[in-house]
Amino acid sequence: MNRVLITGGAGFIGSHLANRLIKSGYQVSFLDCLLPKVHGKSPRKNSATLLSLDIGIREIIGSVTSQNDLEESIKNQDIIIHLASETGTGESMYETSTYANVNVGGTALLLDILINTKHSVKKVILASSRAVYGEGKYLCENLGEVYPTSRCSETLSRGEFEVSYPGCADLEFLPSDENSRLNPISVYGITKQNQEQLVSTVCKSIGIDWVIFRYQNVYGPGQSLSNPYTGIVSVFTSLIRNNQDLTVFEDGRGTRDFVYIDDVVNGTILGLENSEAAGQIFNIGSGESTRIIDIAKLLKEYFASDISINVNGKYRMGDIRHSLADLSLAKKVLGFKPEKSFKDGLRDFVDWASKIEKTESAFESSLSILESKGLFS
Ligand SMILES: NC(=O)c1ccc[n+]([C@@H]2O[C@H](COP(=O)([O-])OP(=O)(O)OC[C@H]3O[C@@H](n4cnc5c(N)ncnc54)[C@H](O)[C@@H]3O)[C@@H](O)[C@H]2O)c1
Repeated sequence: MNRVLITGGAGFIGSHLANRLIKSGYQVSFLDCLLPKVHGKSPRKNSATLLSLDIGIREIIGSVTSQNDLEESIKNQDIIIHLASETGTGESMYETSTYANVNVGGTALLLDILINTKHSVKKVILASSRAVYGEGKYLCENLGEVYPTSRCSETLSRGEFEVSYPGCADLEFLPSDENSRLNPISVYGITKQNQEQLVSTVCKSIGIDWVIFRYQNVYGPGQSLSNPYTGIVSVFTSLIRNNQDLTVFEDGRGTRDFVYIDDVVNGTILGLENSEAAGQIFNIGSGESTRIIDIAKLLKEYFASDISINVNGKYRMGDIRHSLADLSLAKKVLGFKPEKSFKDGLRDFVDWASKIEKTESAFESSLSILESKGLFS
């Protein structure tokens, strides 16, 4: 059980995982189509993650939407870690068919091959996302635990950014555990939920072990600085390095659970190696809440930049207000313990990003696209 295929293995999480697994004695291959928005137009020259991969890792350049590429990749493998995915929440709201084809279609094709061809795969690990929880869980004094649906443009445009729920005057935000209701409010989140359903149902039916991880907001060295749709830490960093002011949506008080890449790799390997993890879903996060405005301030400070931070009151459809993971299950079953504090992790990220060649930020143009489609106001 030591031959591992990582789909999306040239990406941010995949490259860290691949390098760690090879150091631990696994035989590692990856299947990746080297998406230009993630790796740039000349990945062999400019993709930090592709260039960081250990030379012992076998590469297959191809797509999870291609039967041939998948069949070639899964030959002689014991474990598949399925990371290949379109990953932008905002982009998913207008590239619906691409997100469904790659995320849902690619996963279905992979499973189809596992059902219908001869292979040696014994375990499938899936990277899911906190996006499956949508706005998450709240405590209402009258009604107990409630799950608000997406916020509507009418209230958002009045500057009312916190979620509401009928019949509840005060809502207290609660961390989501794995049994919390799934309530995705973006196309990306829907595709991640579908991936989970496909993997858990099909693997169970054909006797292949499966483990699913719901990652929170992962950050750290290697995160694409060119993709304007993933990772607020890298989006802000790219703007600061280009000496552009930071635009913070809503009132900046929305929060996320930022988890450092090394902690995500640790959690994933704990799940891969622990037989008790089979057939279970685990949140992987830091368990700590950070406000978006505070990230902007910290990055400005760490880069010693004099750009301005503009809180603009605008909002993107598909964005959630708060997210935070309850890590009890991963702690209990896997012995998972996030180790990096956000401040230390952000320092490491800034040190890394400062050494990377600058590319133009595509953030403003991504907002123009969203605006033209009525998804950003
Ligand atoms: N980074 C996060 O904060 C985060 C949070 C939750 C979940 N996840 C999930 O973790 C996984 C990895 O995310 P990441 O942050 O490393 O993203 P990433 O964009 O850095 O990596 C994804 C990789 O998949 C590849 N890819 C995309 N479409 C493909 C296709 N059709 N065929 C083959 N390869 C393809 C890309 O080229 C890229 O190298 C994804 O499934 C994502 O949904 C990430």
